[in-house]
Amino acid sequence: MGGLTAPGKKIAACGLKMTHIYEETKPVHRQEDKYTREAILSPSKIRKGKTRWNQCVEELGKVNLHLLQGPILDFGCGGGYFVLEGLRRDLDIWGVDQLLGKIKRYRKLVEYTSGPKGWNQRCLVGDGVILPFRSNYFDLVCSWWVFEHIPIPGKAIREMVRVTRPGGVIVIRAQDARTSWEGHCNIPWIPYLTSRLTRVWIEEFGKTPSMYEGVYDITQPQVISILESLGCEIVIKSESPQPLIEGHLQLCTEQNVRQMARLIKAKLDRGEWTPRQDGLYVYAQKI
Ligand SMILES: C[S@@+](CC[C@H](N)C(=O)[O-])C[C@H]1O[C@@H](n2cnc3c(N)ncnc32)[C@H](O)[C@@H]1O
Repeated sequence: MGGLTAPGKKIAACGLKMTHIYEETKPVHRQEDKYTREAILSPSKIRKGKTRWNQCVEELGKVNLHLLQGPILDFGCGGGYFVLEGLRRDLDIWGVDQLLGKIKRYRKLVEYTSGPKGWNQRCLVGDGVILPFRSNYFDLVCSWWVFEHIPIPGKAIREMVRVTRPGGVIVIRAQDARTSWEGHCNIPWIPYLTSRLTRVWIEEFGKTPSMYEGVYDITQPQVISILESLGCEIVIKSESPQPLIEGHLQLCTEQNVRQMARLIKAKLDRGEWTPRQDGLYVYAQKI
């Protein structure tokens, strides 16, 4: 494979091109902390990559395990822990993420794990709505916990389908908006509250509403409907999440949202309320 070059230059068999680059906007001291060996090699992050890989092996085993031989694309790859798992297995695997900071962290991951220099170029900066790869290239295009951060999912899913070869599989895992456990604030959840009542709910659990910024509603039926309209066949899918908070639809004032939040928080603290983080997952084959 060729090296990473200036935006717009075609450099690899996959038809690689550079597109948009977004810098993260968090305070500088926090940014620097994220690049230390300790932060990059945090056991929980390394474990995440392995867990995602094992999950993929297990589920693709039901469809066609062969697809894991690649080429593979990890859409919204973050710090590239899943990509690293694939590279360690000698696969033609790529990652793309819109944040430059994530890709810089991926390069540190390669450095700290003494990966070959060429691995540096396997995760790239790019916006999912214009993927920097040629059409019909990948056997497997997967995305882990990205789509709840994409306001207009159809355009990104279309790109995922475009770069997948016919017969290849698209895997989408994300938070289902109907969940009863919100993973960014780590609190019980009531789906589809108004923005104001959502803030009230989050605050009652002692969290800051900014933790939920950039999280959008997406559901399994929506993902399926988009994939089917793009000519894909659904081969594996998640169940619909069950709302755990009874009578939640009646909550429409600040006062009764606060009351319910306190009740649920007390139950949670006493261990009487069991969190259920229902994610959506869809495996779809491009026809
Ligand atoms: C919650 S992180 C998940 C990272 C990784 N997939 C994982 O499972 O650990 C979501 C990632 O999606 C990326 N992302 C969000 N929207 C994107 C887009 N339109 N194009 C590319 N990446 C995107 C974010 O920059 C972020 O790194």
